[in-house]
Amino acid sequence: AAIVKHTFEVKNLTTNRLCQERVITAVNGTLPGPTIHVHEGDTLVVHVFNKSPYNLTIHWHGIFQLRSGWADGPEYITQCPILPGNHYTYRFTITGQEGTLWWHAHVQWLRATVHGALIIRPRKGHSYPFPKPYNGVRIILGEWWNANVIDVENAALAVGAAPNNSNAFTINGRAGALYNCSSTGIYKLKVVQGKTYLLRIINAALNNQLFFKIANHTMTVVAVDASYTNPMVTDVIVIAPGQTVDALLTADQPLASYYMAAHPYASAAGVPFDNTTTTAIITYENATSSTPIMPTLPAFNDTPTAFKFYSNLTGLVNGPFWTPVPLKINKHMFVTAGLGLVACGTNQTCEGPLNQTFAASMNNASFELPTKLSMLQAFFFHVSGIYTTDFPENPPLVFDYTNSSNSFNTSLVFTTKSTKATKLKFNSTVQIVLQNTALVGIENHPMHLHGFNFHILAQGFGNYDAVTASKLFNLVNPQKRNTIGVPVGGWAVIRFTADNPGVWIMHCHLDSHLPVGLATTFVVEDGPTLSTSLPPPPADLPHC
Ligand code: C2O
Repeated sequence: AAIVKHTFEVKNLTTNRLCQERVITAVNGTLPGPTIHVHEGDTLVVHVFNKSPYNLTIHWHGIFQLRSGWADGPEYITQCPILPGNHYTYRFTITGQEGTLWWHAHVQWLRATVHGALIIRPRKGHSYPFPKPYNGVRIILGEWWNANVIDVENAALAVGAAPNNSNAFTINGRAGALYNCSSTGIYKLKVVQGKTYLLRIINAALNNQLFFKIANHTMTVVAVDASYTNPMVTDVIVIAPGQTVDALLTADQPLASYYMAAHPYASAAGVPFDNTTTTAIITYENATSSTPIMPTLPAFNDTPTAFKFYSNLTGLVNGPFWTPVPLKINKHMFVTAGLGLVACGTNQTCEGPLNQTFAASMNNASFELPTKLSMLQAFFFHVSGIYTTDFPENPPLVFDYTNSSNSFNTSLVFTTKSTKATKLKFNSTVQIVLQNTALVGIENHPMHLHGFNFHILAQGFGNYDAVTASKLFNLVNPQKRNTIGVPVGGWAVIRFTADNPGVWIMHCHLDSHLPVGLATTFVVEDGPTLSTSLPPPPADLPHC
């Protein structure tokens, strides 16, 4: 195994998109930022220099961070932010996972432009559980704002409700042919007829699930969230913010040019969204015709197509790093995720009814980041007053979560801000029923868990019902993920083993929901030995 070193210089970059010059925050002067390549088993060392005007942290999305929680990155959860002018070195070993992951800023909305791919190949002497592709292709789907994203976020927070209508979607940082002034900067991929490519697709968009398609081609999904799946042939990929998909693409069509395209899967009814389409071009070597063929994407609200894609994936039981589903459960949790209302802050406009403003919550607790110290420091150094471990476990089970008309006046709508965690014993097994609510609007929340992959046992629409759901449980070969797009107005059941001591956030990966409180945390206690405990923090851990 090798030690792979990188230096990230995070600073202002003047760039041009959609006929507008704009100053963005970027890593090493590029959008997307640098791609990191490692082999499973390698140690990654990234020196991050914050030369931007904003507080900064970097999160290595999907990396287990086994006993290296100090490198996980979410602000005030595992570290205080790196202040402008300061630096921090992230150091961690990548074991037990392979495929496509990514890294992104975990401070406010900065990840809009501070992100990049993290590609984990099999270690030397090991191979993929599928025929070796001719080449790998990184495809980062993103979102572009003409305004400064921090300004957009702050304006949104002032009224509680954040917008999710950006100005464009992007493929590898480029908006593509269907936007004004954008066709010259389009991303182009050259392929050789007959060869197979491994597409490493990342949804780095802030607030939208996306449909992704290539004209006249099918793709074969072989991994999601850096976890191998049984090969699944599909003509469309559905991907929620935070998720990744590894898919094989064989150039088996006539010599020509083909568009790849992405547009939102706008699952939430009545929520405005950017309804534009981003494109890139695949050109076969020696093709003569130059007008690319356009694919037909599913309709924005095509929930059946999205659900089919999400629910048909299964884990590769005989593949590398498969772990069986825990069958004995130590802790059962039922967790609602939804929008709600909080009392208006002094500097806020009360946009909601009854002198309230919009917020989001899990089990009626609207998560608030601490500011004096990170939760992980408080855990390690036994500092009280930073968080409490009384995350509410029992929202009303006899309740119609998905009927907004009958539920508006219930206690689940009115929430307060707090920093609550759930304590988990080392190596305990946890089952979580995630239930979306329709208290303010019927939404879909892509829920992301730091520090672990979870098995997805079942998912469905409407209210969770234990008897019906348990008949659907896949305990044999369920897919493993770090982010699940819980069905719109529906539920999902996940399981994981808390084998990693530290503090881990679980949150909605829509940036319009995270800062208003759609998050909670798990505090996993140390194991019985030194090698099952969290080591002390690195000396350069930023101070608050
Ligand atoms: Cu990709 Cu907590 O984030």
